[in-house]
Amino acid sequence: MKTFASAVVLLALIAASGARELQPNYAPAPAPATSKPIADIVFVLSAEKASFPSSSTLELKGVSTTAQYYGAGARAGLISTPIFANGSAGAEYVASNGEWLNVPDAVLFSNSGSNNQAILLSLQNPLYNEDDKTVTFTITVLPADESALKTAHGVTNELVLEHADNVGTPLTDAVKPGTVLTDVALFIDENRESLKPIAETKYHWGWGNSGWGNSGWGGSSYNSGWGSGWGSGWGSGYGWGK
Ligand SMILES: *[C@@H]1O[C@H](CO)[C@@H](O)[C@H](O)[C@H]1NC(C)=O
Repeated sequence: MKTFASAVVLLALIAASGARELQPNYAPAPAPATSKPIADIVFVLSAEKASFPSSSTLELKGVSTTAQYYGAGARAGLISTPIFANGSAGAEYVASNGEWLNVPDAVLFSNSGSNNQAILLSLQNPLYNEDDKTVTFTITVLPADESALKTAHGVTNELVLEHADNVGTPLTDAVKPGTVLTDVALFIDENRESLKPIAETKYHWGWGNSGWGNSGWGGSSYNSGWGSGWGSGWGSGYGWGK
């Protein structure tokens, strides 16, 4: 069935490209090589230490009090870490299916003296511990393979490309429980459009007032001081840029 469907798609593509050749001047732009969503927003959480209590758990210690986020240009902002790293049902960045930020891919960079390294991870179920200011995630270590990544053009993709060229930060493809890394930053790739369904369930993201499409992230009563810019309504975050 799948093969049949692929064949139909292929035939359709051949037909479409044939039609295009007849009208080269009016040809639509070719479809992008990837149908993956573009990583058009990056969240960054930094910490003094990262450890791996098990091969599927990442613990960040001495974590920054805010998560930063960046988009194209000078779009940037901050979100309080306890709000950002809350994976409980109903929390700000948790969808109705229980997934936090759609189970994003991320790179954990560490800078332990001359021993820089990076690990590609898929992140789930963040848990912020107020008592000792740690954040733990359930993780899956990802291979250095573009096809394993959820988004295109993100920090994770760049790392995979560099790895293939033997440049950049060395990539670790497995974590040993008990490993401790220092001076770490977690770069999380996201696509804004795919966060829309989460935003729609959070009334204070300002959905419907100023709209995702109009002001980018929606206006928020938290952030009237920042106007209706890109970052102003990112849940309980604040930022700037249009
Ligand atoms: C996480 O979110 C839940 C649901 O909104 C809330 O009850 C809980 O207090 C939050 N936890 C933290 C640490 O903010």
